[in-house]
Amino acid sequence: MSTTTNTAPAELPKWKTVEVTFEDGIAWVTLNRPTKRNAMSPTLNREMMDVLNVLEFDDRAKVLVLTGAGGAFSAGMDLKEYFRETENFEWIRKLRNHSASQDWMWRRLRKYPKSTIAMVNGWCFGGAFTPLVGCDLAVAAEDATFGVSEVNWGIIPGGNVCKAIEETMGYREALYYIMTGDTFTGKQAEAMGLVNYAVPADQLRSRVIEIAKKLLALNPVTVYNAKVMYKFTRNMDWETASEFSGAKSAQNAMMDKEKGRLKGLEQFLDEKSFRPGLGAYRRDD
Ligand code: COA
Repeated sequence: MSTTTNTAPAELPKWKTVEVTFEDGIAWVTLNRPTKRNAMSPTLNREMMDVLNVLEFDDRAKVLVLTGAGGAFSAGMDLKEYFRETENFEWIRKLRNHSASQDWMWRRLRKYPKSTIAMVNGWCFGGAFTPLVGCDLAVAAEDATFGVSEVNWGIIPGGNVCKAIEETMGYREALYYIMTGDTFTGKQAEAMGLVNYAVPADQLRSRVIEIAKKLLALNPVTVYNAKVMYKFTRNMDWETASEFSGAKSAQNAMMDKEKGRLKGLEQFLDEKSFRPGLGAYRRDD
């Protein structure tokens, strides 16, 4: 049965720029400044960090979906509140403003203990590429519009946008869009590997729920360690990666109170009740 709540439950803080609702293990985290196309202001950055901290220990949030209110995922950094109004800040406040954005968009998101899915429902520009790639998975509406638009207004893609693009897009595509500021669609984003899937807009939510349900059925400790291992071994040489993965595997066994490995072995080798190649072990005993 669905347990949707349309307003944040009483015990959640009242955020001005982010809305959180829960539904069957999914926390829908919606950037909520639709009249500003969900541009990311200093307030939103501060609140998103708070949201992630709060949801980390909220059992209603087993998988997080990050999306935007109205017709936008996010129009990137807020040109007025993030850029213009901070222009004359002293350097230390400027630094804080910058790191408050980076703290949630990738430092926190990239190794968030719960699985995260970006649901790109519309405009996705500039700075929004960082949380997009900060999320583990991404699904876009086919007709969503993406753009690395910084060059269009005289800046370079900062805030780890280039790094996010480098992790997901090919060399030529990345340079083309970074250098021209041209837009591309959700369908093109799928072909480039920037998002996992692009689907017709009216199927976006159901496709995301389908993926979230897959994740929800699995051992969360193992899903977490597997994603962290992948993300970090990407930048290691083979020897270091091998040592790291050995240590991570041991950590996974230690963290996993459910003892998934043992159950998997028993159910496959002794009970012959499942095939690991074709699905997951039974978690209910
Ligand atoms: N920062 C601050 N405000 C923004 C914004 C941003 N990144 N993106 C949109 N807004 C504001 C507009 O200033 C406008 O505010 P107003 O109603 O007070 O005038 C409002 O949101 C609606 O924007 P508008 O341009 O009229 O909407 P649109 O639907 O016609 O176009 C976009 C949407 C996203 C194409 C367009 O707003 C845009 O190009 N935004 C900037 C995108 C960008 O380059 N971001 C990269 C930042 S690094």
